[in-house]
Amino acid sequence: MHKVIVLDDLAQDGLDLLDQADDFEYEVRTGLKGDDLRNALNEFDGAICRSGVKLTPDVLDGVRQLKAVVRAGVGTDNIDKPAATKAGVVVMNTPAGNTLSTAEHAITLMLAMSRNVAPANQGLVEGRWDRKKYMGTQVAGKTLGVVGLGRIGLEVAKRAQALEMKVLGYDPFMSKQRAEELGIEHVDTVDGMLPHVDYLTVHTPLTDETRNMVNVTQLEILKPGVRLINCARGGIYNENALVEGLKSGKIAGVALDVYEEEPCTDSPLFGMPGVLCTPHLGASTEEAQTQVAVEAVHLLTDFLANGTIRHSVNVA
Ligand code: MLT
Repeated sequence: MHKVIVLDDLAQDGLDLLDQADDFEYEVRTGLKGDDLRNALNEFDGAICRSGVKLTPDVLDGVRQLKAVVRAGVGTDNIDKPAATKAGVVVMNTPAGNTLSTAEHAITLMLAMSRNVAPANQGLVEGRWDRKKYMGTQVAGKTLGVVGLGRIGLEVAKRAQALEMKVLGYDPFMSKQRAEELGIEHVDTVDGMLPHVDYLTVHTPLTDETRNMVNVTQLEILKPGVRLINCARGGIYNENALVEGLKSGKIAGVALDVYEEEPCTDSPLFGMPGVLCTPHLGASTEEAQTQVAVEAVHLLTDFLANGTIRHSVNVA
């Protein structure tokens, strides 16, 4: 019998699959940390998590029983990969399940920011009929820069093209020819695209290369009046630089779903004119959560039953 621990809330379809799997039993134990978490991991062969639980080096040091952990989602920032590798734990993610929902959220934020949807709604709630105050901006005919032309970035580009936007794209792993086949103007550097885009959206993990991709230095070269969107990972845009850019008027709008520190309930950006923020909701749809849960269960059960490794993100 293979024993599985579910460490964060998981969509019911995923739990149902675990229920139906032969030779598997599972327990849901959420909110674990420290010794409780380490002890729990030592009772199970496999784990499924989302982003809530933190599998730090401290927790993973001393784990012997656990063979694999699957992240129901894309980002594995909450799992220390070198420590997992050292402990012999295979780490896998589900790269596809929330692609469309996250792409839709980026487009939602772009449009809602452009048309002042949140403050206009708030004005009505507070009894004001402010038609003049909320003059918006049309996205058709504007240029969108997309950094990262992976699954999500490409879906965003496709939707932006349907909105009649011109799309510039940066991705070191995509050839100029492939980008052009997709109707995307390929650029060689992020800084090279910044003077030309009315909107910028990022769809990369947070790495040493992508951290602070837009910082105070980039404020100099951004097109005046640019609007920035981030549904990927906090820290790709430096939040202090965003505040500075908004205050100076260089940046007209910022729409964030992700933050340098999460959860984030207090930020100088919250409430600034032109700023629209959501609490990491990119993958928060029934469809995405069901898909990542089902994918995660398939990955873990295949691994524990047959040794099959797919979507491993281990690093030494
Ligand atoms: C992901 O990495 O899958 C998304 O950011 C959603 C999440 O963290 O739950």
